[in-house]
Amino acid sequence: MNSTTPIKNNKGNGSRPPLIATAALGLALLLLAACGGGGGGTNPTGINASNAPVASNSYTVTSDQYGLEKATYLSSSVSNLGIVFRAAIATSLNDPDYKTIARIDLAPGASISTQATYSLGNASGTPFPGSLYFLNGHPSSLLRIVGGTISFTRYGGSSGDRISGSYSAIVEDDNDPAKPTYTVSAGFDFVVGSYGAVLPAPGSLALAAQPVYQTQCASCHSLGSFDTTAAGAPDLALKGGEVPAKYSAGQPGHQGITVSAAEISALQVLCNTH
Ligand code: HEC
Repeated sequence: MNSTTPIKNNKGNGSRPPLIATAALGLALLLLAACGGGGGGTNPTGINASNAPVASNSYTVTSDQYGLEKATYLSSSVSNLGIVFRAAIATSLNDPDYKTIARIDLAPGASISTQATYSLGNASGTPFPGSLYFLNGHPSSLLRIVGGTISFTRYGGSSGDRISGSYSAIVEDDNDPAKPTYTVSAGFDFVVGSYGAVLPAPGSLALAAQPVYQTQCASCHSLGSFDTTAAGAPDLALKGGEVPAKYSAGQPGHQGITVSAAEISALQVLCNTH
């Protein structure tokens, strides 16, 4: 599904990306990126800087085995510490409840080529001069990128430059002792230093799954802060990745319950957001 958002330029307006308390994922980098936000009024230097302006920022998840919530807000900041692009759940850049779903960080002065395919995590090949993070709305997560690729169709390192491309990331879930891996693929297209709501606003998958969870699963399971009472079954918080192992769409599965493909995806997100 395509996520679109109008562009605003935050050059020089003093706005700062929200500071997210991140225990495990590079707090120093976040702090530094937040301090330098807003861009420096330099002219675009990107290899495609003369292109017609982009009509909208987008972040399009094309496949997701794990179950990430949908972003409602996209923002990108640039500083002398690099570029940070965030897909988040928020109503504005300064929303006190700003929750990052996914982040793409580009190292300062990274020389990105549109001819190359960069490797993520431990994969062999040309290493990506940056990082990809999945927080899924949590302050920190144990989702670790262990492989995959990212490539760019446009790139520029200054405020106002347009960056687009796609990735296919292999994510290891370290919440689970078995450390299962999932593939998440997405495309991105954004103007450095811009931000805005995703329009039309996507519906929350976690919200959509609440009725099916309540009627089909809650009698046995608990689910983090969403449902604190269990009757003999494990807590499903952060266990969304395991739901497809229990159910095939439209067929009686775990405990004889039948759920649709859409319900399976939504249940994954509901579990992973708690
Ligand atoms: C009648 C009770 C009952 C119902 C209803 C039920 N479960 Fe379970 N579920 C269990 C029990 C018991 C286990 C642990 C044993 C097992 O893995 O089967 C479990 C395990 C699981 C696991 C594996 C969790 C882990 O820690 O490995 C998942 C995922 C799961 N259930 C999802 C669901 C979902 C989603 C629903 C609703 C669509 C549901 N269950 C409905 C009893 C139930």
